[in-house]
Amino acid sequence: MSLKKKILVTCALPYANGSIHLGHMLEHIQADIWVRYHRMIGNEIYFICADDAHGTPVMLKALQLKINPEDMINKIYYEHITDLKNFNISYDNYYTTHSHENFFFSKLIFNRLKKQKFIKKKIIQQLYDISHNIFLPDRFVKGICPNCKSINQYGDHCECCGSTYSSIDLITPISILSNTTPILCNSEHFFFDLPKFKNFLKNWITSGVLNHKIKNKIQEWFILGLKKWDITRDGPYFGFKIPKYMNKYFYVWLDAPIGYISTFKNLCDKKKINFYEWWKRNSSKELYHFIGKDIIYFHSLFWPAILEGSNFRKPTKLFVHGHVTLNGFKMSKSKGNFITAKKWLNFLDSDSLRYYYASKISSDINDIDFNLSDFVYKINGDIVNKIVNLASRNSYFINNYFNDNLSKNIDMLLYLKFVKKSEIIHEYFIQGKFSHVIKQIVILSDIANCYIDKYKPWLLIKNNLKKKEVQSICSMGINMFRVIMIYIKPIMPILSYKTELFLKNKLCINKIKIPLINKKINKFKPLFFRININNLNKLIEK
Ligand code: MSP
Ligand code: ZN
Repeated sequence: MSLKKKILVTCALPYANGSIHLGHMLEHIQADIWVRYHRMIGNEIYFICADDAHGTPVMLKALQLKINPEDMINKIYYEHITDLKNFNISYDNYYTTHSHENFFFSKLIFNRLKKQKFIKKKIIQQLYDISHNIFLPDRFVKGICPNCKSINQYGDHCECCGSTYSSIDLITPISILSNTTPILCNSEHFFFDLPKFKNFLKNWITSGVLNHKIKNKIQEWFILGLKKWDITRDGPYFGFKIPKYMNKYFYVWLDAPIGYISTFKNLCDKKKINFYEWWKRNSSKELYHFIGKDIIYFHSLFWPAILEGSNFRKPTKLFVHGHVTLNGFKMSKSKGNFITAKKWLNFLDSDSLRYYYASKISSDINDIDFNLSDFVYKINGDIVNKIVNLASRNSYFINNYFNDNLSKNIDMLLYLKFVKKSEIIHEYFIQGKFSHVIKQIVILSDIANCYIDKYKPWLLIKNNLKKKEVQSICSMGINMFRVIMIYIKPIMPILSYKTELFLKNKLCINKIKIPLINKKINKFKPLFFRININNLNKLIEK
């Protein structure tokens, strides 16, 4: 009987209007660690993501750069996949929402919702720029916040007081296209009837798909009341035009999550996977979304309601993380407060960021401050001084005195203690509590180093009668290193790969009970380099 789980994992789709930065990387790294662990224990798991190619921010950026949006999203797509690959994010498919599959599923879902009468038409008033002859999207209008009266705020929300409103509520609105005052015009839009799904959503939210704190937050939204959701935009708009309607487009937030479905469909076609089995209502396969706390509303209300209304399966669980802050402020493109993934790699390696983030990731939604001295302390202290040092100090004797041979016997009692930790570490990985995994790893590496310090192989080796003992002490050291590296493998793929070459052994948790004895290892070569403070300074100077 196979107990293999079948799992589909997604990260939120990054907007195709700028570079991947360290804030985005948190999510990709978090999900990748989780996925790699599941792969290691033998589950069938697919990991997908895509660029979110549509909408006003993308259109605005292309306008600024004076290129057409298609060319821009293609260029950014290649940048994004290169950055993600360089951090070893192991996607099975990274696609785009600007695809024929996504158009197909957007139409299908829209039509199903309309047929079930979950979509209603309504005439609304919108700001219109007469000199350019277009309805102005929220981000094309600036004005005074109706709530706190701050000047220069966009038409969707105020960056000073955080309130959200409609662009027609702005005081003295100005079109950013023409610098003129727009007029009010009527336009017919389609609205998704979210309030009809209130009972369904209340049940869904309490069915174990979210952690406690987030559940409470969503209860507040219920108290405020669910509202009908405008899912259309007037042209010119960069997105999918709705067939049979003049100048109407799907709003980007409708077709973006549908990108999860269409990206998977694209993978299914390539890999001959049965798509229907994964997305049909009540599918027994599991679906997990990794998202940031800023997009909970979309994923916990709109998205499950849309899936319910169009006869698709719902997510099994949402993994929600907080924001990465730099000097206390959210890392964000719009605020210019960020370090790009690419720039990081000009000065530092990818495994070190993965380890640092893992040491901060738990199951709550607290923000994560990127602290440079803490970063150096953790990498040089844990990885270099404790873990990799274990390999180098022990292999020195095995390589130089024992012709690379590990002993026939080691301290099995202590070895099994190391193996026993796999149970709790398994739980931590599954729950996404990677900071707890790291704590266990550090405890184990301290125990291992104490063991070597206690027996002092560098003194014993001088005594001819004690040589055999040195071989088994250092073989034990290598074995403790190996177990630790099995636990680190999902977190640091490059270090793990080099370790596998050094040990001539594939690191796998299913083989953890069998120690490496009576085998040859390779000559030790440096596995990891200490963080160079000069490089770090160069990174932040720029
Ligand atoms: N395109 C939408 C998501 C559509 S999903 C159907 C979007 N894009 S985004 O590029 O702004 O953000 C993508 C993901 O990165 C989101 O989950 C967001 O929370 C996350 N992050 C963006 N900045 C972040 C930090 N500074 N810190 C942590 N995560 C951050 O939203
Ligand atoms: Zn305000």
